[in-house]
Amino acid sequence: MGGAAVDVCAYGSRWSSEILFVPRERLRSVVADESFSVASPLPVYRRWVIEAWAVFAAIRGGVFESLRRPRTLDALALEEGYESSALRSLVRGLQACGHLQVDDRGIYRLSESASRFFLRESEFFVGDALSFLRTTPKYEEYPTILREGGAVGLTTEQWAYVTRGSATYTRSAVATLVRCYPELWRRESVRVLDVGCGQGTYLVELARALPGMVGLGIDPTARVADEARANVASLGSRVRVEEATLASISETFDVVLINQVFHVVGVEVAREMLVQARSRLIPGGHIFVQEIVTQESDPGSTLFGFNMRMLFENGTVFDLEELKRIVTNADFLDVRAHMVGGPTPGLVYVAGRVAVP
Ligand SMILES: C[S@@+](CC[C@H](N)C(=O)[O-])C[C@H]1O[C@@H](n2cnc3c(N)ncnc32)[C@H](O)[C@@H]1O
Repeated sequence: MGGAAVDVCAYGSRWSSEILFVPRERLRSVVADESFSVASPLPVYRRWVIEAWAVFAAIRGGVFESLRRPRTLDALALEEGYESSALRSLVRGLQACGHLQVDDRGIYRLSESASRFFLRESEFFVGDALSFLRTTPKYEEYPTILREGGAVGLTTEQWAYVTRGSATYTRSAVATLVRCYPELWRRESVRVLDVGCGQGTYLVELARALPGMVGLGIDPTARVADEARANVASLGSRVRVEEATLASISETFDVVLINQVFHVVGVEVAREMLVQARSRLIPGGHIFVQEIVTQESDPGSTLFGFNMRMLFENGTVFDLEELKRIVTNADFLDVRAHMVGGPTPGLVYVAGRVAVP
């Protein structure tokens, strides 16, 4: 086989088909790699698929062609008519994967391999081979979002998949909380508010691990709150669920958990939620924010941000320092990060405490 064909095959197998929302069984059946784990939201396989999406969106949106003339992100957005928040997350993802380079003046340029594979007039152009990615009509919306903003509308089934959030690794996440704050969980009674509780899996696991825990889960999505209510029913009066946001809660708590909500709602809403959370905590009360943060060693976490941005208008991924900063700026003390570990790169708790007057 000639050079171009071999290269196209390499890209093809690395980026073989299918997507974020396929059922687990189907995903298992298409993945032969034994190291693949569906327990993680960012397994290697899914990271490759998102990378392929990002490249295809950039090809279809004309980003690589535009960057034949190196420029800053702001200049690129302004001069070529891109929506800057969508462009930013795409470009950050492409940079993390090595397809774009940036210098210390913030000027982006194509990497050697991007010029070789992603420019139409190159004899090695692989863009057409990526058409196998058109497995979902949603994907076709990405280039439009790049130009016009907005987000892909999720179907009910897809939203159900997303609201599982940390459900797949609840146990290791709860173990991290207990290990890092043993004195907190040893108390006879700990009142916990789980904000954006999704399907309630986390509350169930917390109640199982901690006999003194009494919980309230809130979620603004009616169907999700109904599911959570059914899932916590066996715990009786120890755990309640309401269809609500933080703004409508008047009780106070020892602990507020906000698990994987910030990457859906974005930075501005996250800031507001932290201020509201603080006012629902007793003096000395604790906040725990669970997120997936960008890691230089893992382009997957940055690509996760690209994906979130396409799915939700304000979707994002946080840098660890940025996340710690917004928690600190909401007047929490002793702000610390605890990596959860396990198969999910970049899964972290950022924890803080309310001052005792
Ligand atoms: C990715 S899911 C995480 C679910 C759960 N916390 C977990 O980790 O398993 C994000 C959740 O945030 C909820 N959500 C969206 N906007 C919210 C808001 N403004 N306040 C609270 N929750 C919100 C959604 O309904 C959804 O259930």
